[in-house]
Amino acid sequence: MVREFPEGFMWGAATSAYQCEGAALEDGKRESQQDVINREIHDEYGYADASVTADHYHHYKEDVALMAEMGFTSYRFSISWARVLPDGTGEPNPAGVRFYHDLIAELRSHGIEPVVTMWHYDLPMALVERYGGWRSRQIVDDFEYYARFILNEYKDEVRYWLTINEQSIVVNYIDRKNLISKADYFNPRFRYQANHYMNLAHAKAAIAAHEIVEGAQVGAALDCAPYYPASSDPADILAARGANAFKNYFYMDAYIKGEYTPSVMRYLERQGLMFDIEPGDLDLIKRGSECFDFLGVNYYQSACVKAPTPGASRRPKDNNKTGKGGHAVSEIQPDLFEGTDNPHLESTDFSMPIDPNGLEFILEEINDRYGIPVMICENGFGGYDTLEKDGSVHDPYRIEYLRAHIKAIGRAIANGVTVLGYNPWSAMDLLSTSNGIAKRYGFVYVDRTDDDERECKRYRKDSFWWYRNVIATNGKNL
Ligand code: BG6
Repeated sequence: MVREFPEGFMWGAATSAYQCEGAALEDGKRESQQDVINREIHDEYGYADASVTADHYHHYKEDVALMAEMGFTSYRFSISWARVLPDGTGEPNPAGVRFYHDLIAELRSHGIEPVVTMWHYDLPMALVERYGGWRSRQIVDDFEYYARFILNEYKDEVRYWLTINEQSIVVNYIDRKNLISKADYFNPRFRYQANHYMNLAHAKAAIAAHEIVEGAQVGAALDCAPYYPASSDPADILAARGANAFKNYFYMDAYIKGEYTPSVMRYLERQGLMFDIEPGDLDLIKRGSECFDFLGVNYYQSACVKAPTPGASRRPKDNNKTGKGGHAVSEIQPDLFEGTDNPHLESTDFSMPIDPNGLEFILEEINDRYGIPVMICENGFGGYDTLEKDGSVHDPYRIEYLRAHIKAIGRAIANGVTVLGYNPWSAMDLLSTSNGIAKRYGFVYVDRTDDDERECKRYRKDSFWWYRNVIATNGKNL
């Protein structure tokens, strides 16, 4: 393990627009699909919707001051497409555009490097209504339009750009991350066609970033969970190989090598899932890969798989909706792998296995396979926190989780991985994608509940003070 992190290592945290900003319909912003999806989640499970969340839109100065107090040198956030271009394309919204100029100026005034995600699940509803979002090839050009707009707007202020957040999650949970029709949901090819459009959109945005922004550093943030075999049975080991190719390398290969993974393409063909590729598409994906500078690694957990049960049909993994621990429904990919619990790992109340070694594993895999720098763009502990009467929040579980994962990053660096920075999830408490406000990730406690928005007052958790010391000692004091 390295005793000290490299000079210039970026320490910060991450958020996304719809999960922290609130002000969902304010100052000219129109709805994104996440505004609608989270209303549905609210109606079904009682979790908060996306209308207020952490109210960062109104608290951004205070939030940046808290980041500065922790000593952040980077902050990963996303731009809300529907805030800057309410109709998806066409006329910009001046107040929305100004908000991000103000936020970036505030960050820069504290020496914090902005790392900007172009799209973090929140497609403008206008595009969903117009042609079904990722359903149509038109999205590729519209994504480029949006990318070029924000690149030109913020080119003098932002160097680090991430095009898409967690493309593999969008593909695997296509109906939870997007508003799609029942027919599309039951069309098994739909998600892979959408994935192809995302690859094209990503490539166009990456090329545009290199064209427009001097010294641009471009990447995409991917969910990177290593898949372990459940046993030394060669059939389980083959299943793990297949899962890693299907869930990880299929996305990384497209971004970094500009190619589709051969074994995954054969698998899609065999399963009748192959998507349409038009002339010129593969060339575009290749050119996009030449503009890929670093991979954003989002890491929360590892996964475990065994050989698939013959004849089993596809089953998506189900998030734990109760927050009371226990078994979460694991994933089945027919004729490829079947998810199973890993008896060697403890899990959070939300059934996320805790595995710092998995982070070292995936970082070293990525480096050995692609030799590309990485930036940790998410990593964190989602759990219940209690605000004490004196305003303190004791979260030793979060400190323990983060400490172990930072150590794992240190080991990966010692083994040759170039890690640009660490941006855990999340700077402040915000709306979880699956468990509302109840499941908290932040260094800063935001005083509200799923039912009661209160004033969203900020409180420093114990992890705030701990992380401040980690940053001050460049990772020496963990
Ligand atoms: C990542 C997403 O998948 O995980 C974030 O990029 C998300 O948007 C985070 O919030 C944690 O997941 P959850 O479901 O606990 O919010």
